[in-house]
Amino acid sequence: MATTPAELSKAVTELLEATGKDRPALGLVPTMGALHSGHASLAQAARADNDVVVASIFVNPLQFDDPDDLARYPRTLEADLELLGQAGVDIVFAPSEETMYPGGQPLVRVSSGSLGTRFEGAARPGHFDGVLTVVAKLFHCVQPAVPAEFRAYFGQKDAQQVALIRRMVADLNFPVQIYPVPIVRAADGLAESSRNVFLNPEDRSRALVLSQALARLQERAATRRPLDAPAAAALIMETPGVELDYFEVVDPLTLEPVPSGAGDVLTGPALALVAARVAGIRLIDNAELHG
Ligand code: PAF
Repeated sequence: MATTPAELSKAVTELLEATGKDRPALGLVPTMGALHSGHASLAQAARADNDVVVASIFVNPLQFDDPDDLARYPRTLEADLELLGQAGVDIVFAPSEETMYPGGQPLVRVSSGSLGTRFEGAARPGHFDGVLTVVAKLFHCVQPAVPAEFRAYFGQKDAQQVALIRRMVADLNFPVQIYPVPIVRAADGLAESSRNVFLNPEDRSRALVLSQALARLQERAATRRPLDAPAAAALIMETPGVELDYFEVVDPLTLEPVPSGAGDVLTGPALALVAARVAGIRLIDNAELHG
């Protein structure tokens, strides 16, 4: 395990050189720990595509607007190392807060712009500036010092995060390719999340209405029927104990709204986004729609 950028850089360089290739591939899986099967699928995707795989574990204080949420965030380093080892990760980078932010919280941050103030950004002001800032730092820490393809893997469950990281990489010319990895769902359809541990069995079964509402839209898009997103949103709003925040159909790259009323048939790819609180736990989910 590397805990400083210098240790990390040395380990990455040694492993890349040991491949004997002119241009080996390096995959990065950034995480905040509390790993579950969704993270395992990121690590497995990176393992399948790359010669060397790095995973980072860092609970980034910049992306929490609520100190209680930060304090409550599960920290499970031993189990995380076990999961990453089983997925074939070569190097784990687990820096301390002091290492990542030596002078305290940074004065200069990456701005997520208007895309970062909608949906999750509206509910959590500053969240995406914090995410982009730490992801930029992680890219710089892992960036290979020898010629290599550099790829980074992010879960599609955080669709807005993926869209923003893609924009940051394109807009600011980061030399890294972004690979979104499909959502992992439990057998009952619930999207895997580190927050699911806070749901009791009854709340968990109520939470299933999110994936059911998304599946309804997917089915309507696939059969070229009007989406009628308000009817799907109503399913969520009518479920006791579930407080809907947003349910929107958007363009997958810009996250601008796409017409999705009772008379609107989808004509291209779109993304349905949902967020709700179940027993006070905020859950998000999304589904790709194909018109
Ligand atoms: O998705 C996450 O776990 C975090 O937002 C990330 C990308 C590791 C940045 O802290």
